[in-house]
Amino acid sequence: MAGRKVITSVGRTRPVRRHTKPRRHGVVHGAGEGQGRHLEPEHEQLLRRERLAALGEIAGSIAHELRNPLGAIRNATYFLNIALSGELKGRVGRHLQIINDEVVRADRIIAALLDYARGRPCNPCPARLTEILDDALGMAHLPRTVRVQSSIPEHVPLVNVDDAQLTQVFANLLANAGQALAGQGVVSIRASLENGYVRVSVADNGPGISPEHLPRIFEPLYSTKAFGVGLGLPVCRSFVEANGGSIEVESEPGKGATFTVSLPVAGR
Ligand SMILES: Nc1ncnc2c1ncn2[C@@H]1O[C@H](COP(=O)(O)OP(=O)(O)OP(=O)(O)O)[C@@H](O)[C@H]1O
Ligand SMILES: [Mg+2]
Repeated sequence: MAGRKVITSVGRTRPVRRHTKPRRHGVVHGAGEGQGRHLEPEHEQLLRRERLAALGEIAGSIAHELRNPLGAIRNATYFLNIALSGELKGRVGRHLQIINDEVVRADRIIAALLDYARGRPCNPCPARLTEILDDALGMAHLPRTVRVQSSIPEHVPLVNVDDAQLTQVFANLLANAGQALAGQGVVSIRASLENGYVRVSVADNGPGISPEHLPRIFEPLYSTKAFGVGLGLPVCRSFVEANGGSIEVESEPGKGATFTVSLPVAGR
């Protein structure tokens, strides 16, 4: 374990320490990622909220402007499909299908961007971790060939979180683990109680994350996947922090990746 490092949700590296209290981070990565300035944690969170509010406004108007032409393209392909017949339909139909699939993809990107930038109201209530994880597993659609080992001790207390948001967080982490495993491997979910926080880890034994990518994976729209949007982890960070928790990642290339979410215990 000596010498191992974790990357916090804002990309800062620190040595692995057990029994650490979840903490706010002191580095902001702005447009010039990697040129972090050291700031007080509250200042850092305030800056991120301001950036998100500005992004939310821009995203809202862009989404509105883009959805109308996308709808028109979808209608046009629908009518062309009906108008064409016979041999022509076979050949042209395939291209119409491509246009349609790409319109659906663009629509998904807009929806994810709006979700991230605008956020949703956060209503923390006492919630049972096992129920959140069950729902998240249902949403993540992991293939049957991926084995899930979940070990949540009985004594783990209720957490004070917005259960819909945390379900989305764990669904995103599980989906990433499943995609990293490409259909073969093990996902382990564990939980422990540390200093008034429940620490939940989602680990996979896939290829892991290379040191060049690791500091950037929480950046909006950063993705190494052909069809990835790059908003899964930014949404995780935004939701976890809105719920008073923190998220960090640890990875050894070739051995897998572990994401750990710390959540406040209910009733403290
Ligand atoms: N468990 C993991 N193993 C390896 N790499 C991972 C893992 N989780 C995340 N990553 C890396 O982090 C990047 C960002 O993840 P994120 O979930 O934000 O976006 P995405 O999965 O690419 O797209 P989407 O928005 O559809 O989720 C991924 O593209 C991948 O490179
Ligand atoms: Mg993802």
